[in-house]
Amino acid sequence: MITSDQLNQLKAICGGENFSINDEIRAENASDETEDLVFLPDAVCFPKTVDQVSAILRYCNEQLIPVTTRGAGTGLSGGALPVNGGIVLAMKHFNRIIEIDERNLQATVEPGVITQVFQEAVIEKGLYYPPDPSSRGSSLIGGNLAHCSGGPRAVKYGVTRDYVLDLEVVLANGEVIRTGARVLKNSTGYNLTQLLVGSEGTLGVITKVVFKLIPYPPLNKVLLAPFRAAGDACLAVSAIFRAGVVPSALEFMERDAIDWTLKFRDDISLNIGAEEQAHLLVEVDGNEEDEMMRQVEKIVAVLEAHNCMDIYFAESEAQKTDLWKLRRSVAEAVKSNSVYKEEDTVVPRAELPVLLEAVKKTGEKYGFRSVCYGHAGDGNLHVNIIRGDLSEDAWKNEVPKGIREIFSLVVSLGGTLSGEHGIGLVQQPYMEIAFSEQQLELMRGIKRVFDPKNILNPGKIFTNIHAQA
Ligand code: LAC
Ligand code: ZN
Repeated sequence: MITSDQLNQLKAICGGENFSINDEIRAENASDETEDLVFLPDAVCFPKTVDQVSAILRYCNEQLIPVTTRGAGTGLSGGALPVNGGIVLAMKHFNRIIEIDERNLQATVEPGVITQVFQEAVIEKGLYYPPDPSSRGSSLIGGNLAHCSGGPRAVKYGVTRDYVLDLEVVLANGEVIRTGARVLKNSTGYNLTQLLVGSEGTLGVITKVVFKLIPYPPLNKVLLAPFRAAGDACLAVSAIFRAGVVPSALEFMERDAIDWTLKFRDDISLNIGAEEQAHLLVEVDGNEEDEMMRQVEKIVAVLEAHNCMDIYFAESEAQKTDLWKLRRSVAEAVKSNSVYKEEDTVVPRAELPVLLEAVKKTGEKYGFRSVCYGHAGDGNLHVNIIRGDLSEDAWKNEVPKGIREIFSLVVSLGGTLSGEHGIGLVQQPYMEIAFSEQQLELMRGIKRVFDPKNILNPGKIFTNIHAQA
């Protein structure tokens, strides 16, 4: 527990208006999008400057107060939950796009900028920042950096880390460092930049990022291909790449995902035939109509060879928007139906059919229903395990056994636990499926170097950073 003297000190560092112990504010910062988990912080700080972040961390480090950095709270692995109390460091005031450098195709941004706001700002200059998690309308760049977010466009353009050149980071002891340089090539010492990306707030607090950008591809084609058998849809995925095409998105949705989302959003008009059991949402983008048409033709040939039913081609911008709205709303739609566990499985893409079948079999064995969808082109399948009317015992004890089996299979297929949502709190128990003790100890060692007193987002990724100390 934080003492009232510590709270007063923190208030003095932040300034009264940037600090709160108000119950409502604490409650707003006690949960994210993960299951129904709630952990109240003792206080919430809303720093406005790097100096304030530095002073807060220095004080918390000295006093052993846990610090959980928070973006928009859209995370799905519990990364922003203050599981040990202490303070939440809410970064929403760091919301400036500092510079869009059109000469070098780079941008300098603060972590509190909304992902989509940043994307739209660079598109106005004819530039592109592709990572686009479904939550991009509300998620913050800082959260994207913390978990190395992906999204549908990752299949062609890569994930958040692929665009990060340099970071400004406040360390646990309050020191401020830069990790990289504003260059596209950097073979200079250990890559601290990439170590920080995906570290889920456990190594430092990011206060600035330099991204590389690419030219914006202005044209795209979008289609939705229905299948009678989900297995055929999955088999078609790797065949598309083998046909020589890299789509800018290649998403999978099983029937329930679409049905639940259409029920959740009545502003999308789409007719789904009774026999359609799974869909692939495919997008190609580019600069030239003819080239894109050639790619679409190749894709259609592959889809037809995998028994797809009548393909729906989105002709207008409104139709494209509807399809994307549908896809991006699945997670919210599932959540509106039931509490669920989100597993962010990822395998080599050709193993997708094996994974999907195993998930369903495991569900039958342990008595749970799952709704599967995700970034098929990346082999990244979101497995939503539905609580529905499962008993407390089944939810707490049986389901995790099933998850364990799914993850063991994933690893045996050459995959891993999370493609883009991170380990956070809820995937921690499964880390030893993916890593040996030696690998885990290397990671814990890194954590100890950056944060010897374990104040930064304690209780995440590792159960105990001092396991071998
Ligand atoms: C999505 C999020 C949940 O793909 O990652 O919709
Ligand atoms: Zn996703």
